[in-house]
Amino acid sequence: MTREIERAADILRAGDLVVFPTETVYGLGGDATNPRAVARIYDAKQRPSFNPLIAHVSDLETAERHGMLHARARALAERFWPGPLTLVVKRRSESPIAELACAGLDTLALRAPAHPMARALLAAFGGPIVAPSANRSGHVSATTAAHAHADLGERVDLILDGGACQLGLESTIVAIADTGVATLLRAGAIPRETIEAITGALSAPLAASIAAPGMMESHYAPRARLRLNAADPQPGEAYLAFGATAPPGGLSLSQTGDLVEAAANLYAHLRALDASGADTIAVAPIPSDGLGEAIRDRLARAAAPR
Ligand code: TXA
Ligand code: MG
Repeated sequence: MTREIERAADILRAGDLVVFPTETVYGLGGDATNPRAVARIYDAKQRPSFNPLIAHVSDLETAERHGMLHARARALAERFWPGPLTLVVKRRSESPIAELACAGLDTLALRAPAHPMARALLAAFGGPIVAPSANRSGHVSATTAAHAHADLGERVDLILDGGACQLGLESTIVAIADTGVATLLRAGAIPRETIEAITGALSAPLAASIAAPGMMESHYAPRARLRLNAADPQPGEAYLAFGATAPPGGLSLSQTGDLVEAAANLYAHLRALDASGADTIAVAPIPSDGLGEAIRDRLARAAAPR
């Protein structure tokens, strides 16, 4: 274990905050059992406190100490952990995770990340770490340490730099009810079809409830306006291409039309085009299969009225 990881674990023990890389996006981490640390996360992100956090754990065994996992949840964890899957399950009353982290819900979101630095930090700290994406609330998620620094800067005590995130898109969130019914709460880095191979068809969340408040309308948003499904840019627009080379001043998510590559580039390209100063970013049509579902979801929220 490196000195830096040890230092990060000490910072968490002190109730302070550490940004760390995961294979999806960077997380803004704090001790899940410390209400003051959890409150500092909401404050640093300027996040509405009704939006609950994901508790990161090392493995399935640890997860079962905090949540009640139906056999179907266990099957998903065995297949996809460590990895980009978050399970929402009934919370155990004896779990020491701060209630503030669950925003008053009787459920809990759990994920065992795969990134070696995240795993080293979990091992060194020895307890659950709550971590939302390391961006200001509503803004584009951070996929590099520099992005996290730009959004959170002095509000955090340490930023662990693990390079660019391999997947670049948040975890897929699946709720498994006591009855075993599986609901897709957020499309993400594992395509729906891959999950459904194990669970069967996933239900859609009840529209009225804030099922996973990442589902709030405007989210993942750059400063610039977004214009979606744009075959070509208008004069003055920056262009985010897909399956083609971008015109000058634009960027391509994937010249070959590879959705995995596009997911990994999405947030960094949005930030880069935003920084170019254009008022509007026109975005090429994105297919809806595989990771396209999650990419289109993020783009739709980034384009939503604010
Ligand atoms: O890939 C990821 O999931 C990243 C990395 C850092 O792990 N984390 C992440 O966290 O995206 P965040 O806070 O940006 O998004 C977590 C989502 C939110 O939409 C939240 O509403 C939902 O998870 N969530 C958390 N607990 C929940 C619960 N008990 N029931 C329903 N949704 C929940
Ligand atoms: Mg987020």
